[in-house]
Amino acid sequence: MSQDVQYGTDVAAVYDSFISPAMDSRDAVERLRPHVTGARVLEIGVGTGRVALPVAAIAAELVGVDNSRPMLDEFRAKAVPANVELVEADFRRPLPLRGRFDAAYATMGSLACVRSREELVAALTHVREVLVPGGSLSMEYYATATYRPLVAQHVLTMPTPHRAGGVTTFTVTLDDADVLTMHTRIDEDDAPPVEFAEQILLIERTEVEACLAEAGFSVEHVTPAEGFQPYDWYTALNEGTQ
Ligand SMILES: C[S@@+](CC[C@H](N)C(=O)[O-])C[C@H]1O[C@@H](n2cnc3c(N)ncnc32)[C@H](O)[C@@H]1O
Repeated sequence: MSQDVQYGTDVAAVYDSFISPAMDSRDAVERLRPHVTGARVLEIGVGTGRVALPVAAIAAELVGVDNSRPMLDEFRAKAVPANVELVEADFRRPLPLRGRFDAAYATMGSLACVRSREELVAALTHVREVLVPGGSLSMEYYATATYRPLVAQHVLTMPTPHRAGGVTTFTVTLDDADVLTMHTRIDEDDAPPVEFAEQILLIERTEVEACLAEAGFSVEHVTPAEGFQPYDWYTALNEGTQ
């Protein structure tokens, strides 16, 4: 597997047992419902299908793109509905997809898995290019209000959500290029520790909006993260006419 793929077999193996249970998909599905109901829908960074499965139940068709074969394999190991197609592709390059989509979405900050603002604009442009004119992009993007304090704290230890006796330790750093690295270590009794790291571009909400505009979207609505929620929620429309 390419070194360029962040989500390897180690993360994929624990995603549905440790990460998905901590992130209820119902809020995301309710926010997406007006855009995806009866629509041809694209999920960018579809992962193991945490959100794609409930969205596919209300969409006409769902295509899920991800550059991690292990994450897609976890999804494929489930009963993939007939109206779902999974495509291994990297959103930092033009998307190899047929036809246009009425709506696209990226949950849990998938589109933040980039190294620079330029790479984010390129990724957003690739998504816009496969949307119909006026088509919507909904996305969760890492909230600086939540993550900057974590950078300052550097190490955070907490009980693993929904795993009695488990302890999760996050070690968070931010480099000069605004790339945040979050190393996660999960310890449970009688089991070897599980460790993995993610890297995302941490930029202010106004900068995310500027990247969306540069990629050809008009930003319709932003719902800032509340309390310690990890993500802001953006809704934007493809301004293009074809
Ligand atoms: C935090 S997971 C979110 C998965 C899913 N959207 C969810 O909400 O459960 C981020 C996903 O984005 C994918 N991803 C990261 N960089 C990517 C890229 N450059 N191209 C395509 N997918 C990417 C990862 O492989 C991973 O499956």
